[in-house]
Amino acid sequence: MDCEKFVEEQIAHIKETVSRAKAINALSGGVDSSLVTVLGHRALGDRLRTVFVDNDLMRKGEPERVVRTFASLGIPVELVDARQEFLSALAGLTDPEKKRQAVTDTFYSKVFARLVRESNARFLLHGTILTDIEETVAGIKRQHNILAQLGIDPKDSFGYSVIEPLKTLRKDDVREVARFLKLPAEICERIPFPGPALATRIVGEVTAERLETVRTATAIVEEELADSGAFQYLAVLLSDRATGIRDNKREFGQIIVVRCIESTDARTATVTPLSWDKLNRISERITAINGVNRCLYDLTPKPPATIEYV
Ligand code: XMP
Repeated sequence: MDCEKFVEEQIAHIKETVSRAKAINALSGGVDSSLVTVLGHRALGDRLRTVFVDNDLMRKGEPERVVRTFASLGIPVELVDARQEFLSALAGLTDPEKKRQAVTDTFYSKVFARLVRESNARFLLHGTILTDIEETVAGIKRQHNILAQLGIDPKDSFGYSVIEPLKTLRKDDVREVARFLKLPAEICERIPFPGPALATRIVGEVTAERLETVRTATAIVEEELADSGAFQYLAVLLSDRATGIRDNKREFGQIIVVRCIESTDARTATVTPLSWDKLNRISERITAINGVNRCLYDLTPKPPATIEYV
């Protein structure tokens, strides 16, 4: 694709559409919302307000890392602490769909809706890509109509408009444009990470303590497998427990599952044949986490399994 032409056209389109008004966008750190942030900032400068919502479901150090990365690109990102709101919405929930719904609702209906209203922005920049639209039309994904998700009826509250600069691109094209704009590799080459974040990697209730356990395990797995070349690797906390021995005492401990897969589009996946040494090292480090006494490697391809556990 002609990246230069795409970038010029989108910047011109955003400039023309927003004119002298203000716009807002939410950055997740993924490649789609990162690219939208850069295009929007080049078009609007400080008339674009970019927010990063800390929902407490992120990986270790991620909110600070994203803010720092964009600061080094000259783009200010506002970190919004909504951790307590997300944890309260997730309290007591164990059903996977209810947990996912709680994360979506808290983000759109509560936190982001409030930020949009407070910002005086009339335009929302959103990182919808072609695959999102296709999957929504095919009924695979929940709808991506951001205004509806924010509880804004375009007819009642005219003035709010959504701009989707990436809606003609697929993931590969997004990465290509991101590389063309010289975004750091940690953005362009980032492994897939789900929107509901670590909530998809905790079976059972999501609590601050359980998040800390899976966050620590995730950091270990990502560090150990960074050079694996795999499509995706992750850690999951199960709701079951198992008996073990620590310091000569019986311990009814937690169980972490490690997953590492090969795939091209995440629709199907096979398991990476990791070396025994690597698996042992991961197991040793994971079982050194407070309260975790089992580490399992998941050998199931997709299908019949999915990649995430929730
Ligand atoms: P599953 O678990 O369905 O995951 O095999 C397929 C791929 O999609 C990612 N994933 C998500 N990505 N929002 C996202 O943006 C989500 O709700 C979501 N759920 C799963 C998953 O990490 C894998 O790459």
